[in-house]
Amino acid sequence: MEGEDNVAGMSTANEGAGPFEGFVLGIETSCDDTACAVLDAEGRVLSSVVSSQLDVHRPFGGVVPEAASREHLRNWPAVSAAALQEAGVDWSDVGAVAATRGPGLVGSLLVGLSLGKAISYSLGVPFLAVHHLEGHLFSPLLGTDGASRSVPESMVGLVVSGGHTSLLAVDGPSGAVTSLAETRDDAIGEAFDKIGHRVGLPFPAGAEVDRLAELGDPAAQPFRVARIKSDELAFSYSGLKSQALRALGEIEAGNGHAVEAPADAPGDDGSWPQDVLDLLAGFRRAAVAQLIDRLDRLSDEMPVERLSVSGGVAANRLLRREVALWGERRGADVLLVPLRYCGDNAAMIAHAGLLRLRRGDTDDPGSADAESRIPF
Ligand code: KG4
Ligand code: ZN
Repeated sequence: MEGEDNVAGMSTANEGAGPFEGFVLGIETSCDDTACAVLDAEGRVLSSVVSSQLDVHRPFGGVVPEAASREHLRNWPAVSAAALQEAGVDWSDVGAVAATRGPGLVGSLLVGLSLGKAISYSLGVPFLAVHHLEGHLFSPLLGTDGASRSVPESMVGLVVSGGHTSLLAVDGPSGAVTSLAETRDDAIGEAFDKIGHRVGLPFPAGAEVDRLAELGDPAAQPFRVARIKSDELAFSYSGLKSQALRALGEIEAGNGHAVEAPADAPGDDGSWPQDVLDLLAGFRRAAVAQLIDRLDRLSDEMPVERLSVSGGVAANRLLRREVALWGERRGADVLLVPLRYCGDNAAMIAHAGLLRLRRGDTDDPGSADAESRIPF
């Protein structure tokens, strides 16, 4: 098994219990997706169920925190039952429980974390309160059709989502994660969502902006790549967002009418004005170019042998093409999260929990707390 060395390194909480052999139940409720997954002891995903609440939040143009907590409670019985059934696992087979403790919406986090604590307590099995970013960071190693890959000796992680744009360094043997860079303002996914919202696309708009950008010419509407003089690695997306919004205003002034998504979008691509498609393509090119710029700067400073790329924005078509090329150029092994595990899911939480369990690094279900903002 690839993760053998981690298992051998197990200590403290599971001392004397031998290598972990049961199933790990993962719970993720940090935002608006209610998710439950089951992994075996080798990190193979046996089930990963995600129930989206988008229909509830969409009319409000964003996630309504109170509604999200209520929906998590409502969805949990069906979501957990489906995850166990698909995995062919009974409650009594669950050997460890991992739940997201933050960051995220505190009311939403509390639902999943409390469920996880109660399940672990009642079954008498180890509990792991997992950092949401830790879940994304290691998700490219998830075992989709076999055991999960072991954590490399050293790895850099790029986590790009609606809430984060983070560059992280991982020390494989100890599992220690250090932050190398963060966004100074907006997260990259948030910028995609705001541009999409401005042209009338439903929330979250990132995937649709990406699809439409494929139809535009980025050279027709170029945007600068933002840089921060005082911190070469830090990200910033609010400037690019404002530039793109301004350019949209200019297109509208020139055309004499507002830009609006076709009523039956997605699908009616022919009715999008070409200058708007070009703008979306230019925006996407600059957004992705900023990520590649930071990766270049980092690898000028230190060797990057392995790069993990994860989070909702890791589904971006251009980003997937560009990081693969970057890896070839720089001689780095690029681990791209599979498309189905880009967005929030509980398989990545169970997996991050399993990695910690193998090191004997468990949490007390009696005292683990949900937190809306937590550094690594
Ligand atoms: O990881 P995730 O599901 O939730 C957070 O932890 O934020 O990421 C969701 C974000 C949203 O902002 C969404 O618009 C964006 O990922 N996203 C994309 C694409 N697919 C999802 N952004 C750009 N291109 C995509 N293909
Ligand atoms: Zn996420």
